[in-house]
Amino acid sequence: VAFREANRDKYSAFFNNPVPSFGSMEAEFLVVGLAPGLKGANQTGRPFTGDYAGKVLYSALDLHGFGKGKYAERPDDGFTLVNCRITNAVRCVPPENKPTPEEAKTCRPFLQNEIAAMPKLKVILSLGLTSHAAVCNTLSIRQSQHKFGHGAWWDVQYGGRTVRLIDSYHSSRYNIQTGRLTQEMFNAIIAQVRQWL
Ligand code: URA
Repeated sequence: VAFREANRDKYSAFFNNPVPSFGSMEAEFLVVGLAPGLKGANQTGRPFTGDYAGKVLYSALDLHGFGKGKYAERPDDGFTLVNCRITNAVRCVPPENKPTPEEAKTCRPFLQNEIAAMPKLKVILSLGLTSHAAVCNTLSIRQSQHKFGHGAWWDVQYGGRTVRLIDSYHSSRYNIQTGRLTQEMFNAIIAQVRQWL
């Protein structure tokens, strides 16, 4: 909260609030990111919008028909999601871009409520380990039996329905620049989801 308030003084034109999810609650596909970037989603008020990670994410979604219009890194670019919704495990920009376990825990009820309120949800994509952990906690499944891995997936019973979870390395600048993740690897994850849906 202190960080958010300091940012309101420092960057008064920024959104500087918990970033709401993007896309319809009727979607079958939910992407769970980590947290807003300071000068990306925290500035624009739309998940991944203006963040480096968003370029990778939105281009893959667009390629596989989960986007409509042209993503132009602005909340008023007219870009919309098709049968897809994007949220974050942590809703506010965290200091040093690193959410603490405490922050993830505090935000968990938002993720829980959101998942419970998506009636057609079939696939959840977790971007990175922190997001994976938040989703496992939300669905009451053990991480020891669902170990994070790029491309790993499981069918999980939740609230009387089956939801498929899939993991990807986060589409962060760091992961792309170190070669851990490439755009092609990320596109392949979204292609897999497209095939399921
Ligand atoms: N921007 C977001 O909204 N979420 C992330 O996980 C990264 C950047």
